[in-house]
Amino acid sequence: MSAPTPAASAPSSSLIPTLPGPSYTDPVIFSEEQEKIFESRWFAAARSAEIDGTGAFRTVDVGRENVVLVRGRDRRLRAFLNVCRHRGARVCMQETGVVKRNLQCGYHAWTYGLDGKLVAAPNLTSMPDVDRAAYGLVPVHLREWLGYAWVCVADEPPSFEETVVGAVAERLGSVEAIEGWDVENLEVGRRIGYDVHANWKLIIENFMECYHCATIHPELTEVLPEFADGYAAQYFVGHGAAFAEEAAGFTVDGGAGLTAIPGVGEDHDRKYYAITVNPQVFINLVPDHVIFHRMYPVAPDRTRVECDWLYLPEVVRSGRDLDRSVELFHRVNQQDFDACERCQLAASSRAYAGGGVLVPSEHHIGAFHTWVTEQLQG
Ligand code: FES
Ligand code: FE
Repeated sequence: MSAPTPAASAPSSSLIPTLPGPSYTDPVIFSEEQEKIFESRWFAAARSAEIDGTGAFRTVDVGRENVVLVRGRDRRLRAFLNVCRHRGARVCMQETGVVKRNLQCGYHAWTYGLDGKLVAAPNLTSMPDVDRAAYGLVPVHLREWLGYAWVCVADEPPSFEETVVGAVAERLGSVEAIEGWDVENLEVGRRIGYDVHANWKLIIENFMECYHCATIHPELTEVLPEFADGYAAQYFVGHGAAFAEEAAGFTVDGGAGLTAIPGVGEDHDRKYYAITVNPQVFINLVPDHVIFHRMYPVAPDRTRVECDWLYLPEVVRSGRDLDRSVELFHRVNQQDFDACERCQLAASSRAYAGGGVLVPSEHHIGAFHTWVTEQLQG
């Protein structure tokens, strides 16, 4: 019996090939992606408001680096590589916390100000020739937008306006369109973390298509009936997906949502918008909330996803029940991540060595594959 032919090699005018299987399993390819994508692009690291007050910090893996974001005495947020300049120990070991005055390395106690400068070290006075400025923490580029701290660990970051703001503008028709949601001033009503046993690209690919919606998202297609037709995300650019007539809000049972965000105009009412910002952010907009996903790749077959449900501050502070609102997309996430894990399980099979195929409603995933390939070649 001859070996099965990879589907991707079968010529067909309406089916185009995917990336080959090893793209999802090979540690060498993953390491190249870490370097050429995650360490080279802008990366949404944390919600700015969660790093609240002088000395508050959060650490985040960005590619193979670990970055510490810390709030200074001047209220400014700064980001540094979380590496002691003495012998290279990680300075902040916790994911979140608050320090009183300084960041101190737990090995030999080199101590850094909240602005990253080396301020003290045991016996430093006996080393008058040591230039403290030269041994500060290494700064990382930081931009704050939509209430998130975006970092870039590359020496020369790409244009934030082109690669982040531009991606949002492209998907919404204009960048002004997102201003109505005032995302920066919303508050986190719920945060759920997912430990997904799948390659990061499977998660993006899944998010980009709706061919699967009729199969795995019964609750979502009740609220967004157009999704049951498998329209590609591109179909909705600029005009969003309309809620079902019988759906009062974007909730798990189609019941009423929470208080609508006042700046969301009539054009955007009763509609759902989905935005992908390569390589790790998905944003969903509905009239009463915003769902903001960040992906943190940890291994070829593992990705941590952190998802925030953002509401008006008065909604969060009122203690109103958010469960039915959160539950809809929490289920969608679980359904999607289960599907991604199914693909990961089979990605190393020889049946998938040459990859699979994209049907016409998924063809734009091909553009994502081209983008990934170009980054790795660059
Ligand atoms: Fe940090 Fe020595 S490695 S103080
Ligand atoms: Fe989905």
